[in-house]
Amino acid sequence: MKFFVDTANLQEIQEAHDLGVLDGVTTNPSLMAKEGIFGHDNVMAHYKQICEIVDGDISAEVIATDFDGMVREGELLAELHPNIVVKVPMTREGVKAIRHFSERGIKTNCTLVFSAGQAILAAKAGATYVSPFVGRLDDVSTDGLQLIEQIVHIYGNYGYQTQVLAASVRHVMHLVQCAELGADVVTCPLSVITGLLNHPLTDIGLQKFLADHAKGNK
Ligand code: E4P
Repeated sequence: MKFFVDTANLQEIQEAHDLGVLDGVTTNPSLMAKEGIFGHDNVMAHYKQICEIVDGDISAEVIATDFDGMVREGELLAELHPNIVVKVPMTREGVKAIRHFSERGIKTNCTLVFSAGQAILAAKAGATYVSPFVGRLDDVSTDGLQLIEQIVHIYGNYGYQTQVLAASVRHVMHLVQCAELGADVVTCPLSVITGLLNHPLTDIGLQKFLADHAKGNK
């Protein structure tokens, strides 16, 4: 399973990269705004910086909601770097744009997916990734992980090449359960990735090993 970090913060991206387990990055307009990145040139420059840190797929989302606008923006984004994946919302125009990009060899990430039907459409349109939002479904009392299971099963039935990118992954157990269910990728905050390190018995065990070792050196 690939690990993507879900942030536009360069320090966090660098930290995740330095850990040696990072496969890519996802961003969205809210994450870009959180970092204070606004305006076409600044946005483009920021994506370029991310591409310089991480040698893996970097999702950059279009802002336009009409087909022509999405195509214009997506083509500019794709020209920035070969690792850019154009992130397109699951809408009627978005599905058409995904088909357009996939016919031209431009990678896409179909975002804001909340149902199996939407995931089937994304695969039919030729999306490289589909992003079901686990946490946001949980937020409205619907089982987000069940959707991951359903999509993995359906894609398996037909051998769809679209990769299941579990998004809105909020905690360590989400990540572990996505791995059990066979998601191809998870995207999550850095804290979820580093949270995988934690176990009290590891800390206690290490303290004991070091203490015993120190006894011999007295
Ligand atoms: C997906 O690509 C989104 O950027 C992200 O995972 C959304 O997560 P959130 O629901 O925690 O905002």
